Amino acid sequence: MADDPYARAASAGAAIRERLGEHRAVLVLGSGWAQVAELLGAVRAAVPMHEFPGFPAPVVQGHSGMAHSVDVDGTPVLVLAGRSHLYEEHPVATVVHGVRAAVLAGCGVVMLTNAAGSLVPQNGPGTPVLIRDQLNLTGANPMTGAEPPAGYPGRFSDLTDLYSPRLRAAARAAFPDLPEGVYAGMLGGSYETPAEIAMLRTLGADLVGMSTVLEAIAARHLGAEVFGVSLVTNLAAGMSASALDHHEVLETGKASVGRLAELLRAVTAAM
Ligand code: HPA
Repeated sequence: MADDPYARAASAGAAIRERLGEHRAVLVLGSGWAQVAELLGAVRAAVPMHEFPGFPAPVVQGHSGMAHSVDVDGTPVLVLAGRSHLYEEHPVATVVHGVRAAVLAGCGVVMLTNAAGSLVPQNGPGTPVLIRDQLNLTGANPMTGAEPPAGYPGRFSDLTDLYSPRLRAAARAAFPDLPEGVYAGMLGGSYETPAEIAMLRTLGADLVGMSTVLEAIAARHLGAEVFGVSLVTNLAAGMSASALDHHEVLETGKASVGRLAELLRAVTAAM
């Protein structure tokens, strides 16, 4: 069936294997972090993502839209530099397409990274924060729509321990001071108001962003182990004197790619 998102992801997965080979894990990079691919290890090959079935052309500034095959200290990792967002009016199936394709191509671990606002004053710009759990406040869910086809798990996935305790422990073993937090995923399109940040704090959020939560659900549904890290690019709205600026968010992200790469290498070593 041409419009079956799982069939589309499976054919993209087959194309990824054909052009980039087999990988143990997939890493999805957030805004402006394409450089992380090179910092992780030798890039064996790179292909523009839109050459694979079902991937749209990238829109948001700072996303390079390349799929890299990287040898991370002997572990082959597929690095997707660029993602689709709901706020671009991509359907939820498109937002999770890369992750589904990678898992169906054989990636058993999904590492999700993002730029986020911090609700915790101690976790300021430049701080990597491990994602311990999430609040999906996007209003969307990849498990809506038609029942997954025969051969796939049913839709009502257990999301207890969505973010692998094993991989979180590995990250903390390498970086004992690494803070953990709950990531609130918003539809986005704008940053939040201070009143919305106050609401999110009441709900238990430590981080806020516009990605990741749907990909994590789709990855877990297909049986992958999920790891997530936010790089704080700003204190959330109302928490600092300066206004939120998308270019500053991108610049802060770029300035911290080295730390992010170190952390991801440690997690990869523990897989
Ligand atoms: N809010 C939502 N998304 C973000 C933020 C924020 O403050 N910073 C980076 N991405």
